Amino acid sequence: MEVVIVPDAMAGGELIAETMAALVRRKPDALLGVATGSTPLPVYEALTAKVRAGAVDVSRVRICQLDEYVGLPSGHPESYRSTVLRQVVEPLGLTEDSFLGPDGTARDVPAACAAYDRALAEAGGVDLQLLGIGTDGHIGFNEPCSSLASRTRIKTLTRQTREDNARFFDHDIEQVPHHVITQGIGTIMEARHLVLLATGEGKAEAVARSVEGPVAAVCPASALQLHPHATVVVDEAAASRL
Ligand code: GLP
Repeated sequence: MEVVIVPDAMAGGELIAETMAALVRRKPDALLGVATGSTPLPVYEALTAKVRAGAVDVSRVRICQLDEYVGLPSGHPESYRSTVLRQVVEPLGLTEDSFLGPDGTARDVPAACAAYDRALAEAGGVDLQLLGIGTDGHIGFNEPCSSLASRTRIKTLTRQTREDNARFFDHDIEQVPHHVITQGIGTIMEARHLVLLATGEGKAEAVARSVEGPVAAVCPASALQLHPHATVVVDEAAASRL
C-alpha cells in the first residue's frame, strides 16, 4: 500500500485525476469505478478540466458505480445513479450507455446484486476503483464487520452513516434509506488499482485504523492493506493521526 500525503483536497483531486488520465491514455476503454460523497468531487472537477483542455480523450471510457440506495424512486436526485450521472458521466461528455450500476429499484434485490457482480466481470473487471471512507472505516457501504470476502449484496446502514448522509436529504435522517446495495469488499478488491481519497480531520481516525491498524472486518478499509496495488491519498488533516 502506498500512502501519499498531499497539502489539501485540491491537490489530492489533481493527483488522482492525473492517475486516471494516465490510465485512459494507456487503455482508452478503461472501466473506472467511482464513488459518491463530498470527498471525490475535486477528482471529478480536475478530470473534467483535463478533458475540456484536450489533455485526455475519455470518449471510450466506461464508468461504474460502487453502491446505491435501495428503494429511492428512479430518477431521485440523491440516488447514487443520478449523482454519478450528474457529477461524473455528464461533465465528462459521456452518456448513460457508458455507465454501469446496480438497480436500487429492483423488486428482487439479491438478483440485482448478483446481476451487478456478473456485469462487472463481463465488462472485463474494474481497472481503477476510487474510494472514499466513512468515519467508521466503511468503504462503499460495507459497514464495520462486513465480511472481507463479501460480494455485492444488500446491507443495512448504521445510524452513524445515516446521520452522516442526512445532509443530502434536507438534514432529515428519516428520509435517508435504511438499505443499500454495495459492491462487497471481495468485489472491490478485484479492481486492478484501488485509490482511496480521504480529506479533513474527521477522517483521521478512520485513516489511521485502515493504514496502520490490523486488517480486520471491524474496519473495512483495512482490507486495502492486502491489495497488490492500493494507493491511499490523504491531505495533511486526514493524515494527522498517522
Ligand atoms: C457514503 C458512500 C461512501 C463514501 C462515504 C463518505 O457512505 N457510500 O462511498 O466514501 O459516504 O462520504 P464523504 O466523502 O462525503 O465523507
